[in-house]
Amino acid sequence: MHHTGIEKVIYGVEDLDGAKKFWRDFGLTSVSEDNSHAVFAAQNNATIEIYPTDDPTLPPPVATNTKSTVREVTFGVRSTDDLTTLKANLSALGEVVEDKDGVIHAADPLGFGFAFRVAQCEPIKPPSVETNVPGNIKRLNQRGQKFDQASPLIMSHIVYMTDDLETQKDFYVDVLGFKLTDSYPGRGYFVRCADANNHHNVFLLDPGQGKRGFHHLAFELGSIHELFGGGNNMTRNGWETMIGPGRHPVSSCYFWYFKNPCGGAAEYDFDSDVVDDNWQPQEWDSTPENFAEWSLGEGMGASLLPDAIQEG
Ligand SMILES: [Fe+2]
Repeated sequence: MHHTGIEKVIYGVEDLDGAKKFWRDFGLTSVSEDNSHAVFAAQNNATIEIYPTDDPTLPPPVATNTKSTVREVTFGVRSTDDLTTLKANLSALGEVVEDKDGVIHAADPLGFGFAFRVAQCEPIKPPSVETNVPGNIKRLNQRGQKFDQASPLIMSHIVYMTDDLETQKDFYVDVLGFKLTDSYPGRGYFVRCADANNHHNVFLLDPGQGKRGFHHLAFELGSIHELFGGGNNMTRNGWETMIGPGRHPVSSCYFWYFKNPCGGAAEYDFDSDVVDDNWQPQEWDSTPENFAEWSLGEGMGASLLPDAIQEG
């Protein structure tokens, strides 16, 4: 199997205007917008599509959740041969629909909608990160970068809360062909598309208490400066931090999560682990220290932004 990563995520939302403003402030590019939908893109042309929750074309929500949430995630594959294989595997288990564009749609055992299409995302032009270390100077006579807003490069991963962790993990690995990167035994699995090098494209988390639903969607940025600049811009625009900024020991990235009117959270990441088949999966204890090496609980807060500090 040769899946390549996340290409598209569809949300059903209660507040279309609020959702549009969130993604604009987050730094995605507007592709099309009207009174009934909106499409935004990351730099590699991975897209977010948002529709009102009562739009009849939306895939059904999980657990009859009529509030704002993700309805479907589309993964890319290398060729139509991959689609044929996936369609055969999925047909043996339940309903799979192929649309007029050849995209196949189904739902996992817990009801989370997904699709596969021949990959359309484009390679990004990677920004150079130039850091000065004594003895290793990369930026001579040149000031460092400062960002007023983020411009996410790719959509890297989606996270679901699950109340049937093993069944769902077995489906992604054994039926869809995802690969296990790391795990919290009995608590969570990080899995990746077989031909992707992201540490994870899907994280399945059992938070207990029978919770089942979408948790967050993550985007990779080009530098730590962009993460702080983007996060400060979100804060200035009134968006509330879920947690961050901080750093995850598992996957190594810096993070900053914002509560999203589309449901769940949206996460900025920078400097995540990049892996291939030589990666050694590791089992981690599910502890606060392994979730975050360090973190602010509620963001910078308006009182910590520079203009507020200057004003005293
Ligand atoms: Fe994440």
